[in-house]
Amino acid sequence: MTEHGDTNKVVRQHLEMEAFFTGFAIKGRSDVPAEQPHASEEPVVETAGTPETADNLEVIAAEVRQCRRCDLGSERANAVPGEGHSNARIMFVGEAPGADEDAQGRPFVGRAGQLLDKIIAACGLKRGDVFIGNILKCRPPGNRDPRPDEIISCLPYLQRQIECIEPEIIVALGAHAARTLLNTSKSIGQLRGHFEEYIAGIGRPPIKLMATYHPAYLLRNYTPDTRRRVWEDMKKVLAELGLPVPD
Ligand code: URA
Repeated sequence: MTEHGDTNKVVRQHLEMEAFFTGFAIKGRSDVPAEQPHASEEPVVETAGTPETADNLEVIAAEVRQCRRCDLGSERANAVPGEGHSNARIMFVGEAPGADEDAQGRPFVGRAGQLLDKIIAACGLKRGDVFIGNILKCRPPGNRDPRPDEIISCLPYLQRQIECIEPEIIVALGAHAARTLLNTSKSIGQLRGHFEEYIAGIGRPPIKLMATYHPAYLLRNYTPDTRRRVWEDMKKVLAELGLPVPD
């Protein structure tokens, strides 16, 4: 099995286990009528969403900047929590910061980022209209592929960002982002070009996800065909949102 295959298998197993246990935890909670807490237990106080405790992007970013959940935390110059509009309709998700992102603490600011900026502009949008984040918030040394343990440690930050933003569409940039968010081992060729669903969690509606090629892949394979495919993917996103679709 390839290294990619191994990574996906481990991450998939973890996500499936998480979903399984989360399902039980939440079911168990709501099964207990609020007015009849177990005598020996503290009643469950539902805090999510209250003004004092509501999760928000700044809170998540601050946690990311302090994070030492995996070894990448001690190797980074800067964590890269992600940036953009807190109510963005479109959320772009890449793989992990590279050298430029690590140096600046901002996502997609290197060559791949410049291409992403062009794609966003071609859509008639500005960078500030969307949210841009990554599966990993810290740079893997030498830009190697994310390891399963790193994805498992880091993914909850992205899941919380998605819960805060509630985008209408997630654009997964490249195979790592698409496979992780869709919990699948399919290839990017199989996943791109049509909408899939990101399962946002119990009680939350699924979010449409369009996978497309990573801008770094596009730079390495800058052919009319790959460009056309990315543009076709983005036109589907614009049409789905009811935004003007440039020719
Ligand atoms: N590639 C990514 O996947 N993310 C970045 O932030 C930059 C390059």
